[in-house]
Amino acid sequence: MTDLPQHDPIYQLNYQWFIEQLSFKQLAEQYGTPLYVYSRAALTRHYQQFDEAFGFIDHQVCFSVKSNSNLAVLNVLARLGAGFDIVSGGELARVLAAGGAAEKIVFSGLGKTEQEIEHALTVGIACFNVESAAELERINTVAARLNVRAPVSLRVNPDVDAKTHPYISTGLKDNKFGIPAETVFDTYARAAELSHIEIIGIDCHIGSQLTESTQPFVDALIKIKEMILTLQQRGITLKHIDIGGGLGVRYYDETPPTPAEYAAALKPLLLELGLKVYMEPGRAISANAGVLLTTVDLLKPTVHKNFAIVDAAMNDFIRPALYGACMSIVRVEAAPHDLAPKTWDIVGAVCESADFLGKDRDLALQQGDVLAVLGAGAYGFVMSSQYNTRPRAAEIMVDQAGSTVVRQRETLASLWELETLLP
Ligand code: LLP
Repeated sequence: MTDLPQHDPIYQLNYQWFIEQLSFKQLAEQYGTPLYVYSRAALTRHYQQFDEAFGFIDHQVCFSVKSNSNLAVLNVLARLGAGFDIVSGGELARVLAAGGAAEKIVFSGLGKTEQEIEHALTVGIACFNVESAAELERINTVAARLNVRAPVSLRVNPDVDAKTHPYISTGLKDNKFGIPAETVFDTYARAAELSHIEIIGIDCHIGSQLTESTQPFVDALIKIKEMILTLQQRGITLKHIDIGGGLGVRYYDETPPTPAEYAAALKPLLLELGLKVYMEPGRAISANAGVLLTTVDLLKPTVHKNFAIVDAAMNDFIRPALYGACMSIVRVEAAPHDLAPKTWDIVGAVCESADFLGKDRDLALQQGDVLAVLGAGAYGFVMSSQYNTRPRAAEIMVDQAGSTVVRQRETLASLWELETLLP
C-alpha cells in the first residue's frame, strides 16, 4: 500500500492552505488562476477507504468517471486497481487512454449508441448496466452482429427517496433512470430469451450527494435483495450486485457517512446475498481531492451588497449556479491584520445573475487575494464550459512536493479553432 500522510492531504497550517507539500499560494503564482489542483495522495486515500471498507466481500470499486475524467486522475486510480463506471464512448476511450483495464469497466447511462456498444463489446468491458427494454434489444443486436454474448446487468429503479437535490436524485419512479420495479421481472425474462445476452448482475443508483444517513442505500438494497430472490425462484441467478455511487461529501457543514459507515450499513445484506459487489463512487473519491484556485480581480462594495469579482466563474464551476451548492471558500493565506472582514458575495464576471461561487461569505478581502473553492475535484472541470468565450482553466496534479500540469490552460485561439467564416 502507498505510504500516505496520516492527515488530510489538503489542510490549513498557520493560516496557510496546503495541498500535500505545496502551498496554494505558490501554485497560484506558478500556474496562474483559475486553476484546478488535485492531490494524488487524497485520491489514493479516498479510493483505499472504499476498497478497505468492502474488504469483507469480493468487490470492485469502479470510479465514476463523470465526476472527474482527467487522464492523470484516472491513471492514478487505475494504478491502484480501480475499475471505472462510464456513461459514454468518450469516457470509455478516456479510461483506455489512461491505462484503465477494460475488464473492470461497467457501462451505465440510458442512451448508449450502437457504436458505443460495439466499442465496449470489442474491448471486452465487464458489464453493461441496462436502463431500458429497448436498450437491451439494441445490445443484443450489436452483440449478434459481432457474434459475442454481451454481459448485462439491469439497472432497476427502486423508487427510494435519496433526500438530495432534485436534479441529482435518480431513484424515484418519476426519474428517467433505470427500469421501473413493475417491469423488472419481464425485462429479465426477455433478457434470458435473447441469444446474445448473458445476464450477470443487477444494479441501482438512487442519487448523488447523499449526506443525511445510510438509510436510503439500505432501503434500496432491501428492495433489490427481494428482486434477486424472486429472480432465483424464476431460474435466473446473478453473479454480482452493483450498488451504484452517491455517497455524499462535506462541502460546507454536512456530516455525511464515511465509506466505512456506508459499508457497515450494507454489510449484513451483502453477506446474505453472497454476490460479488460492484460500486460506482465518484464524488466521494474526487471531490475533496481537488480545489479550484481563483484570484480576487475587483471589489465592488455597494450600499446593498458587497461583491468580490473573482477570475473563476460559473463557466469554470457551475455547481452553485445549477444546484444551489454551498461550497467552502477560503483565503489561501491569512489576511493582513488591519483588513476588516465584511460579508461578500463571491461572483464571476459572466453575464448571468446565477454566476456566483458563494453568497454571504464573511471574509477580509482585497484585490489580488487568492481564494480556494474546496471540494471542487468532482463535477468541477468536467462541467466547465467556454461560455462568454472564456478559456477553460488548467488542471494540476500534486504528488508530495511535485506538481504536474495535467491539462494545459486553453488558449483564446483554440476556442474558435473549429469555426469558419463563410466564403
Ligand atoms: N453511478 C451512476 C449510474 C451515476 O449516475 C452517478 C452520478 C454515479 C454513479 C456517481 O455518483 P457520485 O458517487 O459521484 O455521487 N453534477 C452533479 C452530480 C451528478 C451525478 C450524476 N450521476 C453534482 O455536481 O452534484
